[in-house]
Amino acid sequence: MTSAPSSTTAGENDERVADRTAYEAVIERLSKASVDKHWEPYRDIPWDDPEFRVDQADPRWELPEVDKLGGHPWYRSRSPEVRARIGLWRVATAMKIGLQFENLLKRGLLNYAYRLPNGSPEFRYVYHETIEEGHHGMMFQEFVNRTKLPIRGMPRPLSLVAQIAPWIPLISTELFFVFVLGGEDPIDHVQRKVLKDGRAHHPLEETIMRIHIAEEARHISFARHYLRSRVPRMPRHRRMLLSVISPVVLGVMARIMLAPPGPMIRHFRVPAGVVAEIYRDNPAARREIRDSVGRTRELCAEIGLLNVVSRKVWQAMGIWAEPRR
Ligand SMILES: [Fe+2]
Ligand SMILES: [Fe+2]
Repeated sequence: MTSAPSSTTAGENDERVADRTAYEAVIERLSKASVDKHWEPYRDIPWDDPEFRVDQADPRWELPEVDKLGGHPWYRSRSPEVRARIGLWRVATAMKIGLQFENLLKRGLLNYAYRLPNGSPEFRYVYHETIEEGHHGMMFQEFVNRTKLPIRGMPRPLSLVAQIAPWIPLISTELFFVFVLGGEDPIDHVQRKVLKDGRAHHPLEETIMRIHIAEEARHISFARHYLRSRVPRMPRHRRMLLSVISPVVLGVMARIMLAPPGPMIRHFRVPAGVVAEIYRDNPAARREIRDSVGRTRELCAEIGLLNVVSRKVWQAMGIWAEPRR
């Protein structure tokens, strides 16, 4: 390797120290915020309040007309009770898949933290995040239990493949945090959209979403800062590899998070034509998948993960849009 002129090296070192200091300040701020502002499901959610009771026929579970399935004539011609149960089934499935993803995520975070050296600021933050994700898992599962519906999460083959995720940090911590964003960003995107749709939501659903969005903002921030500080310094060949694998991970994750629940389709006998029309041949469904990874796509552009080859992979995965900057 050719060494750079010493004056430049000194300048770069200064910059690196400044970068490192700013990065560590962010982690410290996130750790402090985790202490100051956090929620516990069995302390902060009034599960047994009659207002929070989950009734399968509650019209507040019905999907709105702007929803892809909710606006379809097949859905609109069901009875109000069936419409409500389908809506509830979908919310509960998203929570079940969310808690399965977060289970993999927690195990991965612990594998990452296991190898961190003494004094590493990431250690404390990653433990805060793991604890919060533990609370999210309990909160989501409690909701699923209270629906009394036979909710299943990820399809079994996918769930088996997903068991490799906790081991990704042993190969590449950068790829692991891309995987983290791949799950967290689409969930966050959907939850924020639901809260902003101007409808009256069930108070339990609304409380869970608000808690989740508030704590996830820190998790997403950590993953983004981590990647921002690490990726530009990766050796060129590893960065190239990461740039190509990232869109594959992100495309698969977004589809897992936003796909129609198979057991729901079978239970309510949703005709195959309707499913295809809503989820497969629908430009709005494709746009939703593309939009749900929008922020991560912008980040990849910013940290040097877009090149001629990786761009092709983003396109092939159906999640490409020209970055804004
Ligand atoms: Fe979470
Ligand atoms: Fe999270």
